[in-house]
Amino acid sequence: MMAYAMAIAAPGGTEKIFRKKIKVPRPGPGEITLRHTAIGLNFIDIYFRSGVYPWPVPRDLVTGSEGAGVVEAVGEGVDLRVGQRVAYTTPNGAYASHRSLPATLAVPLPDTISDEVAAAVMLKGLTAYYLLHHSFPVTSSDTVLFHAAAGGVGLLAGQWLAAKGVRAIGTAGGAEKCALARAHGYREVIDYRAEDFAAETMRLTAGQGVAAVYDSIGFDTILKSAEVLQPFGTLVSFGQSSGVPDNFRISHLARASLRVTRPTLFHFTRQPGWLAEASGALFKMIASGAIKVEIAQRYPLDAVGSAHEALAARQTVGSSILVP
Ligand SMILES: NC(=O)c1ccc[n+]([C@@H]2O[C@H](COP(=O)([O-])OP(=O)(O)OC[C@H]3O[C@@H](n4cnc5c(N)ncnc54)[C@H](OP(=O)(O)O)[C@@H]3O)[C@@H](O)[C@H]2O)c1
Repeated sequence: MMAYAMAIAAPGGTEKIFRKKIKVPRPGPGEITLRHTAIGLNFIDIYFRSGVYPWPVPRDLVTGSEGAGVVEAVGEGVDLRVGQRVAYTTPNGAYASHRSLPATLAVPLPDTISDEVAAAVMLKGLTAYYLLHHSFPVTSSDTVLFHAAAGGVGLLAGQWLAAKGVRAIGTAGGAEKCALARAHGYREVIDYRAEDFAAETMRLTAGQGVAAVYDSIGFDTILKSAEVLQPFGTLVSFGQSSGVPDNFRISHLARASLRVTRPTLFHFTRQPGWLAEASGALFKMIASGAIKVEIAQRYPLDAVGSAHEALAARQTVGSSILVP
């Protein structure tokens, strides 16, 4: 197969994405070269493409931050074998038939995890892991609110929260998405297009509010998210699908001695030992059947522009896969 990547000439719309021939990269010391069999689609890809996140290269950025495949070559000092199935998450470089990357980022896949499932969960599932274990470590006595409950991270988080016995209230846009979120662990789901999610959360909690809000919507929701927290509650702001939440001020925390955290997965993956621990926990949840991975959309890698448009237009549910 001719090696290729989907690159973006400069920050902008999906019309800036183009197919580019590449040479199969050779692994440097400590690196592997991978032939992708499946690549995950994530909102971070849209932030990079559109320029919401700083453009990291002079030109022709290859976005894509998670993938799975087969090791085709190994550099000096690498323990992995040619032919081994692995998956990874790291910012950018995944929209390609082949890539090289540091071997320390590659997680060997057990037989219980298919390449597609791995490509669907390395970024989104490890995010769900740190949100529930580090950003606000949930316990079964907590009630929490999770926005975009029918999305990629949302469906994984709902099942993990349910497995922990947590009462999770979700939000989602439209009746179908609400039903899907309910089938993935959320005890109650608010259609935030039809109802005021803050008033509804307070009603569902008999005026008490919630211990934590996981907010990836940003601008549109952040102020009300802070209003439904109990005293000493935690606001976890981990994304901005509606826009950067620059309407939020530290003074908003004073209402109830609130805490706020703004985590990013890649700070966790750089901690020694974290990737093995977190991916081990995630794969165990999937192998046991406690977490089912909903791959609801598949696109040829060539059609990644349509995939971006569907994700940005709120037309997707669960995870989306790009197939090279
Ligand atoms: N910080 C981190 O480490 C980290 C890691 C992974 C993901 N994230 C963030 O988590 C969020 C979810 O990521 P994902 O890839 O799984 O995406 P996703 O949840 O599958 O898709 C985003 C969803 O957000 C909702 N949404 C609300 N307002 C929106 C708007 N104005 N435009 C588009 N969508 C809107 C939509 O659901 P409804 O139709 O139900 O409203 C949409 O389906 C993203 O914000 C992403 O950046 C952060």
